[in-house]
Amino acid sequence: MSAIRSVICGAGGYLPERILSNDELAKMVDTSDDWIVERSGIRERHIAADGEMTSDLALAAARRALANAGTEASEVDLVVLATATPDQTFPATATKVQAALGITRGAAFDIQAVCTGFVYALAIADNFITAGQFKCALVIGAETFSRILDWQDRGTCVLFGDGAGAVVIKAGPSTGALSDRGILTTHLYADGRHHDLLYVDGGPSSTGTTGHLRMNGREVFKHAVTNMSDAVNEALSATGLSAGDIDWIVPHQANKRIIDATAKKLGIPPEKVVQTVGLHGNTSAASIPLALSCAVGDGRIKKGNLVLMEGMGGGFTWGSALVRW
Ligand code: ACO
Repeated sequence: MSAIRSVICGAGGYLPERILSNDELAKMVDTSDDWIVERSGIRERHIAADGEMTSDLALAAARRALANAGTEASEVDLVVLATATPDQTFPATATKVQAALGITRGAAFDIQAVCTGFVYALAIADNFITAGQFKCALVIGAETFSRILDWQDRGTCVLFGDGAGAVVIKAGPSTGALSDRGILTTHLYADGRHHDLLYVDGGPSSTGTTGHLRMNGREVFKHAVTNMSDAVNEALSATGLSAGDIDWIVPHQANKRIIDATAKKLGIPPEKVVQTVGLHGNTSAASIPLALSCAVGDGRIKKGNLVLMEGMGGGFTWGSALVRW
């Protein structure tokens, strides 16, 4: 075990002002509030305003995370931003956030693992910090999925929303004990053979357009439950802990049925599962840090709690992170 541990010092979230209800969606496509709630648990989602970009959402979440961590932006020497909906093809949206925060040192880059993006970003930042290369990281998940949805496709447009979440991570001392604060273990996976089950049908090098999200929902559902529970079990066996030791599970907020089925498979009771999908929809890379910021903000997640995050997304990619809060 490393003598340095990456301690999460604060979390923050941001949701655009505009709320889109299921009833409004039912006026746009052939769907209903009942259908959407029964199949996904989603009641409403937030949609970015015209001109409001992923970097704007990310910046707002980052500022809240820094304030909650009692950390000045000048302390940050690494910005990792997970997004599948960057402002531009390049430069990285992370560099726009870095500049807006007045940070002029260290590294800033985006990572792309779709809905697993935040878990990937957290693992990357953790590895840099425990290697001693950086001391204070801002890890952000931010998305404007409303810009890549096909608003005529009822099978997908009802499921997603816009938002951002962020955490501040600092290098802290560790004796190696599981009771010491910080990230205990991360596990990342990918299997590119499943590209066609969840993808965007455009891009700079293929069509020269942004494209729209396409999904085989039924197949994604099956893989999501298996992959996320496997990733959680890997984290538990790597640390010798059991499902009963977990205080909070913070899953990627794709769909209430996926979250419930995964928790059931793991034997984790519903009262230990943080769920925000009903009010946020699926915000892809933003969903885990948004859910974290809600549960930390309302006092559910407390210092010393064992928190397990799990995610799965296009690629497929999936992974988990186990943290002593
Ligand atoms: N409103 C009403 N009817 C709809 C809607 C809608 N919004 N969308 C699809 N339907 C219809 C279909 O057309 C189909 O009609 P048919 O029987 O006449 O052909 C019927 O409902 C059943 O369609 P299915 O796709 O089989 O419905 P299913 O029960 O699988 O539910 C859903 C669809 C909610 C997408 C489900 O498959 C699911 O949750 N999948 C997971 C997808 C997901 O969460 N992806 C997020 C990205 S990946 C990730 O983040 C992990």
